[in-house]
Amino acid sequence: MIFRILTLFPEMFDGFISSSIIGKAIDQNKIVVSTENIRSFSSDKHSKVDDAPFGGGAGMVMRVQPLKDALLSKPLSSSGKVIYLSPRGQTLTHEKVVELSGLSELVLVCGHYEGVDQRFIDRYVDEEISIGDYVLTGGEVAAMVVVDSVSRMVSDVLKNDASAEDESFANGLLEYPHYTRPAIYEGDSVPDVLLSGNHAEIEKWRNSQSLEITKSRRPDLYEKHLKEKHLK
Ligand code: ADE
Repeated sequence: MIFRILTLFPEMFDGFISSSIIGKAIDQNKIVVSTENIRSFSSDKHSKVDDAPFGGGAGMVMRVQPLKDALLSKPLSSSGKVIYLSPRGQTLTHEKVVELSGLSELVLVCGHYEGVDQRFIDRYVDEEISIGDYVLTGGEVAAMVVVDSVSRMVSDVLKNDASAEDESFANGLLEYPHYTRPAIYEGDSVPDVLLSGNHAEIEKWRNSQSLEITKSRRPDLYEKHLKEKHLK
């Protein structure tokens, strides 16, 4: 899976792409992540990437030319998509993450200032994605969220593939609580069942915890789960 990130601030990705599971997945060639500075594609003599909005108003708008030239500087693979990170986009969900993980390439366009010229979006963007109903200072953090969540679904990126299936949202429920050593911490014990070695009982306990937590914290997901299981 290839991620191409078009940004005015490639240095924001340095720690992200060199650390932890994402860093390892890159080292092992399971994913490819490149960052390209939109500014270096500006044909303006001062490398200007933005301009005042037509119609007036606050803030600046990113110009089409540097964005288009950055995007077209490399061909897009056949099952690739161009995604613009924007609070106006479709909200990222587990289902969307799974869908994106089936593609061969994602070009992630990070906006700044007030936004990008609509003509760039109309001509070149396949999808707009938002990571939630709040406004960030730019698309970079949202692009990292997309790379991180989609990479986890790419085969072999997680050591233990089962952990991608087990966790919150994969089955429409929130995950059960986890415990590790010591069995008693400052007088607080781990639930007995987890020390029992009885795997059927452990699974039963985890399922019931998962249901309970989902019911109390996310009644919307709980209702959906019941409907899907034809329990309602
Ligand atoms: N850029 C600014 N806010 C954003 C958001 N909520 N999601 C994605 N990109 C953004």
